[in-house]
Parts: sequence; C-alpha cells; structure tokens
Amino acid sequence: MLYRLLRPLLFTLDPETAHTLSLSALQHIQNSGLLPGRSFACKPRKIMGLDFPNPVGLAAGLDKDGAYIDALAKLGFGFIEVGTVTPRPQPGNPRPRLFRLPQAHAIINRMGFNNHGVDHLIENIKRSNFQGILGINIGKNFDTPVDKAAEDYLICLHKIYRYASYVTINISSPNTRNLRQLQNTAELDHLLHILKTEQTKLSDQHGKYTPLVVKIAPDLESPQLEAIALLLMKYRIDGVIATNTTISRQNLDHLPLSKETGGLSGAPLKTLSTQVIKKLHGLLQEAIPIIGVGGIMSAEDAKEKIEAGANLIQIYTGLIYHGPDLIRQSVEAICTSPHDG
Ligand code: FNR
Repeated sequence: MLYRLLRPLLFTLDPETAHTLSLSALQHIQNSGLLPGRSFACKPRKIMGLDFPNPVGLAAGLDKDGAYIDALAKLGFGFIEVGTVTPRPQPGNPRPRLFRLPQAHAIINRMGFNNHGVDHLIENIKRSNFQGILGINIGKNFDTPVDKAAEDYLICLHKIYRYASYVTINISSPNTRNLRQLQNTAELDHLLHILKTEQTKLSDQHGKYTPLVVKIAPDLESPQLEAIALLLMKYRIDGVIATNTTISRQNLDHLPLSKETGGLSGAPLKTLSTQVIKKLHGLLQEAIPIIGVGGIMSAEDAKEKIEAGANLIQIYTGLIYHGPDLIRQSVEAICTSPHDG
C-alpha cells in the first residue's frame, strides 16, 4: 500500500538513484528499529538440503554487496541471494546503465557487475544478523579473460564457502563480455569439473556441504539447453536458476528505450523464462531442483513458474513495479496451489 503511494515519486527519479535511495531508506528504517518484520510461512520444504520457510526469494543483483541483508530479510522472503560479486572491486559500466520501460513493465540493465569485491561482501555478511537462507552469486571480473574465468570463480568460492547457504555460479549475465560463452559445452564441462572438485575439498575442510547452483540465460537454443542439463547431472550440481535477463527485444520495437544494450527483465521475459523451466523440468526429471525467475509480476505468474516445474522462485523487477506486497501474494498463491509440495 505504502509502496503504491511512493512509486510515482520514485519513478520520477533516474532509475539507479531511485534504487539506491529506496534501499538506503529501507536500511535506515531498519537501523532505527522501526521496520516491522514480516514472515510468510508455507508448507516446509527441504531443497538442496536446506529448509526453506517459504519458496519466494530475492533474485541476485538487487543487493550486489550484501549491504542491505537485514533490511531485505524483514520483507518476508524465504531466501535472499546477494551478488553478483567478483574477486576484485569494479565500477561496472558507465551511467546511465539502468532503464525503466514502464509501458512494458520491464527494465533493461547493463550494470556490468558493479560491486565492491568479495572481501567487502564478506564483511557485510559478518555484520548482518540474518539467520535465514543466504545465496551468494559469484562471477568473474570484466578484465579476466574468459579462458581464465575458472580462477575468478575459484577465488570467490573459497572465500565465501563458509558464509553461503548456497553458491550461484553466474554464467549468464549479458553485460560482461564473453561471460555467456561459459555456457558452451566444453567451457562449462571444464568450469563445473573444477568447481565441483573444489566443493568436495571445501566440504571436507569445513565439515559443511554448501550446494552449488548454476544460473542460465533464457536465450539458449534447445540443443544447448540439453547439453547443459547433461552436464548439471554429470557433475551432480545441486540446483539450477532459470533464468537471467534476456538480450531479446521481441514486441518492444515501439519503445525507444528498447534499443538500449543490456539484459531485459520483467513482464516481457516471463514466457521465455517459463519455457526454459518447462524444458529443463522435462530434461532433469526432478533430479535437480529448479529455481524459477523471470517476469514474475503477480501471484498468478508465481504460481505459473511452480506449475512449469520450479521448486522455488525469485523476484526482482516485480518488486520495482509492485512493491514488497508481491512477496506475500506469491507465497499465498503458491502455497494454496495443488501443484505445490
Ligand atoms: C539483475 N540480474 C542479475 N542476475 C545475476 O545473476 N547477477 C546480477 O548481478 C544481476 N544484476 C541485475 C541487475 C538488475 C538491475 C536487474 C534488473 C537484474 C538478473 C535477476 O537476478 C533476474 O534473473 C532477472 O532480472 C529476471 O527476473 P525478474 O527481474 O524479471 O524478476
């Protein structure tokens, strides 16, 4: 309700300013002890060995540095994913790099993994009081050649292993040159081999198993998706997130901002992402859980992702357009759906 009043004001601001301002305000209210905590319970679900209080999570990219975890936790998410974080801090692409397409209920971003680096993220996590499920999404620095990408993922995995409930390997952002090449069979085979071997070592070392999750793009052709599914099974990857933003601009030609380079999220991504989830569900046959994300703008959309085969969902752009009430509405819709559980 409050968000419905604030949204027109926020939408008069430049999108990145509105983003920073909203999160800082939320954190400020949280620090003053005035942010009422909300939690939405559902049928208990154990996925990847983790107990999720509800199936609705925050997608990566909103809190890249883990600077707002406690405040975001109060909104009632079943889990929170922070990042993408890289080994070294980097500024990301020049501004403007975030664009609203209100007529399409969409966003285009080419942020380019702006973040303060993995060490800073860890400091923020140590400072937070969050006891819930925390995913940490990792990537490579923009100037690390793609054939050396595994080293960046390894550095991040090492450092965050003990702090993460699960780790997401992001190989699907369109804003880091050549990153999505890591979805090709040979490259992915190599990367997953290295990361799975390291996970086994770290698990022994820490006496804690931290699941590995791979996040994929919505723009994959069927044969490529089939090859990825086989590799996920070969390496016993613990989960898959479908999907990241799309580079397609179908049906958006009439909007001038649609020409901006970057990843498109929100309503126009919904069907594309749901199709990937359906295909993956068919290929994986429930061997690996799916986290469905992309264009969830209503409770009905949330339910649709579960019906397509997702075990959990995440939201980002829907929060910008509809505010945090979308979390409660999504939890309620999923938890009363006959497809749930
Ligand atoms: C993202 N997303 C994203 N994903 C990721 O794995 N790492 C990241 O750093 C980011 N950064 C990011 C920034 C912005 C501004 C947006 C809008 C999105 C992608 C996000 O997690 C999600 O996969 C897509 O946005 C699709 O979901 P929605 O937004 O349609 O609900």
